[in-house]
Amino acid sequence: MRIGLIGCGAIGGVIVEASRTEGFADVVVVFDIVKERAEETSGGAYVAETFDEFIGVDMDVVVEAASPEAVRVFAEKVLEKADFLIMSVGALSDRDLLTKIESVAEKYGKKVYLPSGAVSGLDALKSVSHLAEEVTLTTIKNPESLAGAPFFDVYGIKPEEIKKRKHLFTGNAREAVELFPQNVNVAAAVSLAGIGFDKTKVRIIADPELRTNIHEIKVKGSFGEILTVSNNLPFPKNPKTSYLAALSAVRTLKNIGDKIIVGT
Ligand SMILES: NC(=O)c1ccc[n+]([C@@H]2O[C@H](COP(=O)([O-])OP(=O)(O)OC[C@H]3O[C@@H](n4cnc5c(N)ncnc54)[C@H](O)[C@@H]3O)[C@@H](O)[C@H]2O)c1
Repeated sequence: MRIGLIGCGAIGGVIVEASRTEGFADVVVVFDIVKERAEETSGGAYVAETFDEFIGVDMDVVVEAASPEAVRVFAEKVLEKADFLIMSVGALSDRDLLTKIESVAEKYGKKVYLPSGAVSGLDALKSVSHLAEEVTLTTIKNPESLAGAPFFDVYGIKPEEIKKRKHLFTGNAREAVELFPQNVNVAAAVSLAGIGFDKTKVRIIADPELRTNIHEIKVKGSFGEILTVSNNLPFPKNPKTSYLAALSAVRTLKNIGDKIIVGT
């Protein structure tokens, strides 16, 4: 499997390293708007200077580990040529972009992979999505990890003034994505796997004692109930990213080449 990588940061670095050491794929070309990052991370792959140069290389799968903007700008051209693994899943909270990606993938017979990222339980949620009456994602983070979110300006709260565990927000995933863009990937993945952005309930809790990022998913319906919890260590190279997210990208790539696929 020939892989092209857009975005050579925390997640991109793990993908290059894992494919090199575990041999499940060859990263043949890398591209990053910061060329030095691409050069540092390439692991011997060709370093493209521009996206046009990148997309000219023969590839089976393009991995996006860059930004929502990269998904918006490059998705169509990528899907004309290769399957597309998207890490910035939050970009797909834009309905028009999601529809566009679906139709281009259909037209060119390509697949789009959205790894589970920083959460667990999407396998079960997918299985029961047509029966799920209630899906609630609760995210608990240190207020520092939430700093910069528009929520704090809208409600006049300062993250550094939160001295004990505080419930900040309950609303649907569409509102959560607006107010807490840092949480957008998880909210988007849960919404897309389950009952959509408008029906998925999101709760955000700030806890200054916490050093990990906790995501809890509760699903209720005529099948019973599901509760999953991920307690994620931040990635040293980029504390906004959980190590689990990078590992889920690697696992998704391995699935593509596997003869026996375990799990839903
Ligand atoms: N699905 C999930 O659960 C999940 C979890 C963590 C991160 N993410 C997302 O995955 C993406 C990568 O995360 P990361 O932690 O590796 O980020 P990072 O900041 O460590 O690395 C991103 C790299 O992409 C490059 N880049 C940004 N925009 C680009 C563009 N338009 N074209 C080319 N290169 C570009 C940057 O220069 C940087 O080197 C982010 O968008 C992040 O939000 C998703």
